[in-house]
Amino acid sequence: MTMQITIALTKGRILQETLPLLAAAGLEPLEDLGKSRKLIFPTNREGVRLLLLRGVDVPTYVQHGAADIGVAGKDTLLEHHSDGLYEPLDLEIARCRLMTAGVKGAALPSGRIKVATKFVESAKRHYAARGRQVDIIKLYGAMELAPLMDLADEIVDIVDSGNTLKANGLEAREMIAHISSRLIVNKAAMKMKYQPISELIEKLSAAVAQN
Ligand code: PRP
Ligand code: MG
Repeated sequence: MTMQITIALTKGRILQETLPLLAAAGLEPLEDLGKSRKLIFPTNREGVRLLLLRGVDVPTYVQHGAADIGVAGKDTLLEHHSDGLYEPLDLEIARCRLMTAGVKGAALPSGRIKVATKFVESAKRHYAARGRQVDIIKLYGAMELAPLMDLADEIVDIVDSGNTLKANGLEAREMIAHISSRLIVNKAAMKMKYQPISELIEKLSAAVAQN
């Protein structure tokens, strides 16, 4: 009997950079994931299928065992309380930085500051470690607008090329974390399906080293 292995992926840059690694590990979807509206895709390997989720939902699927394996950004994982997960492999793709940023040249007020972000947990930990009192304002995107509109004194956001900050008159300030995509595995699945999963991890690990 072939074991079912379900792998949760997310659209966009992570998908574009994960598919070549999976291909190098011998795993390819039977159709173009970018061109379909479907969310479940069979692969060339019997019993192995791919799911296409929103990035923030990948750890949730894997934690509950609805997917055995997932690929998620470290930024997402830092926000997720993930007891049921292993993080066995850094795929070293979709690299960027999680940073604080503010209006170029503007000094921070001395007391409590307002911080806009979708990375609430990382932001709380960062400012707490510096003994800074903050009010966190949760946003879901376009964080760069918040300091410009006086919604916040600083933001915590992903910086890649730095172009978005620059285009909006902002400056990167403190580094919070180096981000890349990680392979995550459900802890129970790792036991129950040890042979196929550990084989896939080994092949992916070799593909990362070649990449
Ligand atoms: C991401 C991130 C930054 C930008 C960083 O935003 O939140 O805004 O990309 O990239 P850069 O340093 O190369 O400019 P995204 O475009 O994903 O939109 P969102 O924040 O509204 O989700
Ligand atoms: Mg953005």
